[in-house]
Amino acid sequence: MSARDSRKVLAELLWAEKYRPKSLSEIVNQEDIVKRLQQFVKEKNMPHLLFAGPPGTGKTTAAHCLAHDLYGEDYRMYLLELNASDERGIDVIRTKVKEFARSKLPANVPFKLVLLDEADNMTADAQQALRRLMEMYVDVTRFILIANYPSKIIEPIQSRCAVFRFTPLKKEDVITRLKYICGQEKVQYDEDALEIIFEISEGDMRKAINILQSSAALGKVTVANVYKVVGLAHPREVREVIKTALAGNFIKAR
Ligand SMILES: Nc1ncnc2c1ncn2[C@@H]1O[C@H](COP(=O)(O)OP(=O)(O)OP(=O)(O)O)[C@@H](O)[C@H]1O
Ligand SMILES: [Mg+2]
Repeated sequence: MSARDSRKVLAELLWAEKYRPKSLSEIVNQEDIVKRLQQFVKEKNMPHLLFAGPPGTGKTTAAHCLAHDLYGEDYRMYLLELNASDERGIDVIRTKVKEFARSKLPANVPFKLVLLDEADNMTADAQQALRRLMEMYVDVTRFILIANYPSKIIEPIQSRCAVFRFTPLKKEDVITRLKYICGQEKVQYDEDALEIIFEISEGDMRKAINILQSSAALGKVTVANVYKVVGLAHPREVREVIKTALAGNFIKAR
C-alpha cells in the first residue's frame, strides 16, 4: 500500500472523517445557513461567501457539501481547494489561483469554485491580490473563504462576501449524532457519558466525535472511559490510539 493509500485508510478509520456529511441535507444544526446554501444550489447562483465561526462546527464540511450539491459526485473537477497546509502567499494567489479563476468555464457549470480554508492566516498582501481576482473573474469563479477569526480578513474582501456565521452545535444535536454513530459502529454507551462528551467538547462536533471514538476504543463509552481519554482528544492522538488498538495492543492503547 502506498503512503497515500494508507493515509486514506487511516482517515476513513477516523469517525470524524467517516461521518462527515456529503450533502447539505446531512448537516446537523446550522439550519438557517443550510437553507440559504440550498437556495444557492437551486438558483445555480451565489455571491462570494465567507464562512466564520469556531472549530468543528461544519464550515469546511458545508463548503464541500455545497460543491457536491452544485456539481455532483465529481465536484472536485470544478473546485480549487487551498488549505492551511498549502502555500497561499501572494505568489500562489497570482499564479495558481489566478490561472484557475480565469480559465474557461466548463460547459453545464454556472461557475467554478475556489475554496480558501483558514483564510484568516493569509498575509495582507496575499489578501489584496485575492481581492482583485474576486473582482475580475466573478462572472466565472466564486470564492468561499473560511475563517475562525473573520476580523483578520481585510475589509474590502469582507464587504464583497455574504457572511455566514457558524455557531457551536446544540446539546441535543451533538448527542443525537453521537448516538447515531454508536448505532452504526455497534458501540455501547451510557447516556451520562454522552452528556459529559458534550460538556467537554462545547459544541465542537469534531472534538465530540474524537472523544467518542477514543473512549469506544476502551470497550464501552462510559463516564470513566471518557475521562480517561479526554487528554487524548486531538486527531493525531486519536489516530495513534486506533493504530495501537488495531495492532492488537489494547493495553498500550489505554
Ligand atoms: N454541522 C455538522 N453536522 C454534522 N457533522 C459535523 C458538523 N460540524 C462538524 N461536523 C463533524 O466534525 C468534523 C469536522 O467538521 P468541519 O471540518 O466542517 O469543521 P470546521 O468548522 O471546518 O472546523 P475548523 O474551524 O477546525 O476547520 C466533520 O468531519 C464532521 O464529522
Ligand atoms: Mg475547517
